[in-house]
Amino acid sequence: MRIREKPLLSERTTLRLGGTAIAEIIPENDDDCLSLGEAVLKTGGTPHILGGGSNLVVRDGELPVVIIRPSLAGRSADHSLPIPVEETEEGVLVRAGAGMPLPRLLAWCAKNGLSGLEGLAGIPGQVGGAVAMNAGAFGCSTAPLVRKLEVYTPERGAHTLTDASEWDFSYRHFALREECSWFLVRSADLLFKKTSPEQVRKTMKEDLARKTASQPVRYATAGCIFKNPPGDHAGRLLEAAGAKGMRKGAFYFSLLHANFLVHDTKSGVPGVFDDAMFLITEAQRMVNERFGIMLETEVIIWP
Ligand code: FAD
Ligand code: EPU
Repeated sequence: MRIREKPLLSERTTLRLGGTAIAEIIPENDDDCLSLGEAVLKTGGTPHILGGGSNLVVRDGELPVVIIRPSLAGRSADHSLPIPVEETEEGVLVRAGAGMPLPRLLAWCAKNGLSGLEGLAGIPGQVGGAVAMNAGAFGCSTAPLVRKLEVYTPERGAHTLTDASEWDFSYRHFALREECSWFLVRSADLLFKKTSPEQVRKTMKEDLARKTASQPVRYATAGCIFKNPPGDHAGRLLEAAGAKGMRKGAFYFSLLHANFLVHDTKSGVPGVFDDAMFLITEAQRMVNERFGIMLETEVIIWP
């Protein structure tokens, strides 16, 4: 297990925002997971699990938190690629460590002709974060593919869940049903359908083209700030309420897609949490005033 003091979160989030945590704990194997509780007691601070940092809006300054960040595969260092576990009539079961970059899993699926997550092409972050957020796009989402999870909770330690009744998910939501103060996904077994590499590549290419045409994927963002309300789209509501392009300090709502808050890192103005939050709450207020809909944030705000 590696422990680093005072990690800077603006270097670990795609929005390039966030102050310093007390420490960062990097469990590298199963034994490390067994002593996670002890490590957290030693460092102090409220535990926060960090994946690729692509869905986070983090406060500035010295934060009373300790970051737990699963290493590459989240299990053992040599599991840098997904592992095919079993092939049945249902499909191919694939194990991926929590710390594996999602794009690496998708590239491997394309190479092996495994279908199920093509729509996620272009989403940054890691496998653990994709499960924890039930990341989705273009008709695909992560949680429905999960068949087994290796997890850690402070209450039960490292254990394995093998039945879908042990977790709960919905649109951009995932939780364990057992009582726990927090949980760490260590690995996930995901069920894919076997097709051909050509077919998987074609769908990924098409979905990625739609994504890059409609979302500011090359800028510093945290993806969509708000969840879509039932039957509507936060982006449409934000644009109609006049929030598109709205700016404060180094942040603005993208002109390409109003639900993406962009950190203009070259503006010469330091990007501060208060400016980002001002825009988020102001946009929420504008949509509520115009449409009577209170948008709910999709991004996770730390601490
Ligand atoms: P993080 O941002 O690090 O963490 C997010 C949450 O998951 C936190 O609560 C964290 O504690 C928890 N978490 C992370 N890892 C674990 C773990 N191992 N165990 C338990 N909890 C964990 N999202 C979509 O759904 N669809 C999209 O189309 C999409 N497009 C995006 C495009 C861009 C350009 C960007 C920047 C983001 C986009 N996102 C999208 C948002 C984001 O990429 C996803 O939510 C992603 O799955 C988050 O993964 P992460 O590893 O970065 O998680
Ligand atoms: N729209 C506007 N103005 C905008 C943006 C969008 O009017 O500035 C309109 C579009 O014209 C379209 C509708 O809103 O009619 C929907 O837009 P889009 O197709 O871009 O989809 P979305 O609902 O905004 C969702 C997800 C994305 C995901 C895409 C593709 C949420 C909050 N967003 O976007 O996920 O990539 O569908 O499936 O669910 C994320 O969660 O971070 C994310 C990026």
